[in-house]
Amino acid sequence: MTGPKIKLLRLSKSIISNKEILAVKNILKKGFLGMGPEVEKFENILTRYFKREVVCFNSGTAALQVALQACGVGRNDEVLVPSITYVASYQAISATGARPVSCDIDLENMQFSLIDLKKRVSRKTKAIMPVHFSGSASQILKIYKFAKQNRLRVIEDAAHAFGTKVRGKKIGSFGDITCFSFDGIKNITSGEGGCLVTSDKKILSMAKDIRLLGIENETEKRYSGHRSWISDVKMQGWRYHMSDINASIGIEQFKRFSKLSKIRKDVCRSYDKKFKNHKYIKTFKRNYKEEVPHIYVVRIPQLNNRREFLRKELLKNGIQTGIHYYPNYKYTKFKASNFFFPNTEKIYKELLTLPLHPELKEKDIRYISKILKKLITKYIFR
Ligand SMILES: Cc1ncc(COP(=O)(O)O)c(C=O)c1O
Repeated sequence: MTGPKIKLLRLSKSIISNKEILAVKNILKKGFLGMGPEVEKFENILTRYFKREVVCFNSGTAALQVALQACGVGRNDEVLVPSITYVASYQAISATGARPVSCDIDLENMQFSLIDLKKRVSRKTKAIMPVHFSGSASQILKIYKFAKQNRLRVIEDAAHAFGTKVRGKKIGSFGDITCFSFDGIKNITSGEGGCLVTSDKKILSMAKDIRLLGIENETEKRYSGHRSWISDVKMQGWRYHMSDINASIGIEQFKRFSKLSKIRKDVCRSYDKKFKNHKYIKTFKRNYKEEVPHIYVVRIPQLNNRREFLRKELLKNGIQTGIHYYPNYKYTKFKASNFFFPNTEKIYKELLTLPLHPELKEKDIRYISKILKKLITKYIFR
């Protein structure tokens, strides 16, 4: 005999309405699924939003890799990147032939530790890749100041931060190059996809060619319903362009963005209230007036090797959780030679990500926080 089935509260979810379904249907019926008018339209919408030109890709990882390549980052170069991020940031750097150099993080906001960042700059450093962990970009102005002093390029990994502002200015509307992801669970999705935003005309032109196998001026051709049969190829390119199917989803999601982002903020505010002054569950201080949160991470000090047990117990109660992230310098491929990351080593076993998506209701948040508190006092800190 099995017990009653518990409804699963998912960690994250793609929020798709009939509008997105209809938009995809229309593209499928047209019989042209590649990169054409829908991608151009999505890029124009995003360009108006950021007030800077946008180039779309088939993933956020592709956007990061192409941004680095267009900056001339390659073999024998180093790129500074925080220890705690999705491995996509690291893979995008190593795909160019450059080496990702892990930097320790700031315990307050999970972004770069500025002290450690400064120590890890070398003659080989070409660029900095700040990661706006969970949707917060509170360090970015300091990083730009540092990058300017050291004549380094900045490629922002804003995969988590679509919609976030800093001092009233949207991430992506200022700075060097900003890359977003539109994968299935991001603040807005195009199914899979990503984009880069910049004012640098040379980067924009290179990025447009690189995403289409390096074929010169292929983007303009595709947007006018043609393609080049005889056109020069001068550099390494990749097949990284976005398709009209994905763009059609992105266009519909963008229309609903203010509603979706408000719910994300409300869910996080509600969690914050429920964990306020809790003895064992620590929340990160966030500014929801400016940030659109992508994930909700709590810190449970001294949780250590009991985290997997806790996650299993939460799952038995229908609560799916995640871990953002395992330190990248521990992966075989990215093992660091200078292994001194005191903040990362202190915090990484204490992190736990709770469900966050726009279909969560207040009663779900109440349930999740009640069960988490109960399990912690029952099993972890008896
Ligand atoms: C921090 C971070 N960077 C980059 C990416 C890559 O984006 P994509 O999955 O669209 O390639 C992700 C996606 O989850 C991410 O979380």
